[in-house]
Parts: sequence; C-alpha cells; structure tokens
Amino acid sequence: MTFVFEKGPSLYKHAKNFIPGGTQLLSKRPEMFLPDLWPAYYKKAKGVEVWDLDDNHLIDMTTAGIGTCILGYADDDVNTAVKSAVDEGSMATLNCPEEVELAELLCDIHPWADMARFTRSGGEALTVAVRIARCATGRERIAFCGYHGWHDWYLATNLSDGKNLSSHLLPGLAPHGVPKGLKGTAVPFHYNDEVEVEKVFAEHGSELAAVVMEPSRYTNPKPGYLEKIRELANKYGVVMIFDEVTAAWRMNMGGLHLKYGVHPDIATFGKGTSNGFALGSIIGKRSVMDAAQNSFISSTYWTERLGFVAGIATLQKIRRENLHEYLNHIGEKARSTITEIAQSHGVPIKYLGHNPLSVLSFDVEDELKSLVSTLYTQECLFRGFLASKPFYPCLALKDEHIAKFSPVADEVFKTIGAGLKSRTIESLLKTRAADSGFKRLN
Ligand SMILES: Cc1ncc(COP(=O)(O)O)c(C=O)c1O
Repeated sequence: MTFVFEKGPSLYKHAKNFIPGGTQLLSKRPEMFLPDLWPAYYKKAKGVEVWDLDDNHLIDMTTAGIGTCILGYADDDVNTAVKSAVDEGSMATLNCPEEVELAELLCDIHPWADMARFTRSGGEALTVAVRIARCATGRERIAFCGYHGWHDWYLATNLSDGKNLSSHLLPGLAPHGVPKGLKGTAVPFHYNDEVEVEKVFAEHGSELAAVVMEPSRYTNPKPGYLEKIRELANKYGVVMIFDEVTAAWRMNMGGLHLKYGVHPDIATFGKGTSNGFALGSIIGKRSVMDAAQNSFISSTYWTERLGFVAGIATLQKIRRENLHEYLNHIGEKARSTITEIAQSHGVPIKYLGHNPLSVLSFDVEDELKSLVSTLYTQECLFRGFLASKPFYPCLALKDEHIAKFSPVADEVFKTIGAGLKSRTIESLLKTRAADSGFKRLN
C-alpha cells in the first residue's frame, strides 16, 4: 500500500500564517515528529486507528493523544456517557451534579484526600495547586522537579538561569513575557538526588510554599527518596504536591504515589483521567484545600459538564478493566518485541521508563540520535504506522496490532541497521531531523 502525505502538511504550512507556532500544543507540532511530512491532522480516530486528511489509514503506536486516551480513541463507553450529557445540556446556570460525584469518587480512591477542585487542563490544575499552597502557607517560593505546564509560576525559574528547565523534559523554554519580578520564585532540583533536595530545603525551606514533583516519570524513586521529601516538607511546613497529570492510572489505580505509599498534601490529575475530554483535577487534604477560599480561583468553563461525565465513565472503566495490569502487559510485549527486532538488525535501542509510560532511546552516537529517531518515524509512517520515541500504550492496543507492526519494524530496523553500518542515515531521510525541544517556528 502506498501512503501519500500532502493535505496535512499543506494545511499545517497554511496554519502557521494564522496560529503562532502552528498548533496549541508543542508536543503536537509536526516538527517534533517528521518535519514537512507528518500528517499533522486527523479526520477520525477510533481505538488505535487514525484516518488523516489524505484518507491514509494509520495505526497509532505513539502516545494515544499525548497520553490522554488511555482507553483508546473515541471509547464507546465514555462516548455514550458524554453523548447523553450533550443531549441533556453540557452547560446551564445551575451546576452539574457530576462534579460532586467526581470529587467524591477521587477522594474515595485516595483516602488521604478530603476535597477536590477541577480545571480543564493539567497545567491549570498545577497552577491552582500552587496558588492554594501559596495561600495556605503565606509563602511564595516553590521548589520543583520535572515538567508542570506553561504557566508563569513554573517558567519563572528560567528568569534566574535560562538553563534551569533544560533537564526537566522540555529544554529551550524561554521565559519571555513572564514578569521579571518572579525571578527566584521557582527553584529546580533533580529527581532522585537526595543531597540536592536537602540543600534546597536547607537554603529555602522556611520560604517554600510548596514542593512540586511527579512521584516518578521514567525511573523509580530510590529507596527512601520520596519519604525524605515528605519528611522535609513536614519539617519546614511545606505543601507537598504530587503531579500525577501524566502518570496516574497507568501504573496503578489512583496514581504512582499510592503505589509508593507516600501521600502528598495535594495531587493533580489531567490527561488520561477523562480519555480525551478536557478535565484537570486537584485533590488534597482539607487543611490545605480550604485555603482556596481565601483566594479567587474561578473559571466559567471549569463548570462544563462533559469533562466530569467523561472522567466518571473513564475511571469506572479503568477500574473495571484493571487497566494498569493490561497496560503493563501490552507495554512489555510491544517493548520486548520491538527491542528484539531492532537487536536482530544491530540497532541498539532500549526503552526507558515504565511499561505503560515509556520512551524509546537509540544508543547511538549523540550526533546521530535525532537523525536515527526521525528515520524510524519516517519509515514507520510510510508503512502505515504513527511511531516516535514516546510510547504510551492504551487499552485499545491489542496483540493483533503488535503482530501487524512486527514485520514493519523488521523492515524499518533493517533499513536503520544498514544505514548505521554504511553511515548513510542522513541520506535516507526525506526531510530534516525532528526538533527535540522548543524552537521558534514562525
Ligand atoms: C507531569 C505533567 N504535568 C503537567 C502537564 C501539563 O498538562 P497540560 O498539557 O494538560 O496543561 C503535563 C503535560 O505534559 C505533564 O506531563
């Protein structure tokens, strides 16, 4: 079968005249995958199947919508619930009761938490959490590790040193437009470095409102590491915020912090919680969450019904399907199958991270890394598969898809292996190498 990618790339080129940067989300920019060739737009998405503007029928082996569609695209159960909410009215002057039901459901899943607030995105949820922590403590400074969204409180760290965010998932984020007065309010630390975080607390502890981090992204915490941060937060009266926006529900029911047995004061959720409908959640202890009333945290569309309805239907299905066990199984199967095929062609790859939330790494010379991963994306695309380095399996990814991908991976890694051997990787690319961080595009 021949695949032609014209309409999508052409619309994206057009889009850049009207939308700065071309898209609303950095991680959906075609330049992050295959510049000038990535299909960019979809007409229809169901399960792990995607139909693009050129009517190419593709199987998605990437992140199922940047980690949102944990059950697969257009899940029947979630869609049935949402469609009925659309017919019953997605908005009214009165509130929808589902927000109370979801708040209770989240507190039931997380017995350490008493109350919940909701937003429409993960970054907003973090910003609300940080506001609540600042309100509850009367302090301003935030210690953080990892990526937590686009908002001022976070980007402010690059006012102190433009490289502060370089090792936190998205390098190259410039703080232009962030008030210089916020300089010094966000202090970064690196994951699993106990000495560094102790130093941050020793230096800033009594001024810290919150410590913000994911319990884990790609590596497990060292024994005692999260407990140490909990202890430091207690000692200095700092609100501990676990960001579960991307990790939650994949590795266990509720979030990684429940698996590791370390309870924060606030946890935030987004993405997979509502399977493709907009919802961000903030849950926390009453003693901290009550402080929300001393500030103004309020937005019209945070009351919209579809996110709540989708959230309830998604969490019910996640529980029913024992999702994390399936994702661990299918993730492991895909990863080991692909690794074996790559190795058979002399291509050194490994997957970093948890089976349900991982990233493919090519163990080649640094200057070849992005060329090789772009070639991987290109060769898979022209064989009908969306594939890139991040790999987040979903419930709709089945054995049959891995079986279909195996002969494709065999051809793709054969090409890469030969290219590596003859040092001709660059000449095999139909376009330039993909970007790995933020770049100005128009
Ligand atoms: C850990 C984490 N926190 C926050 C965010 C921001 O969420 P959103 O893109 O929904 O604003 C992300 C997004 O990738 C994330 O991975």
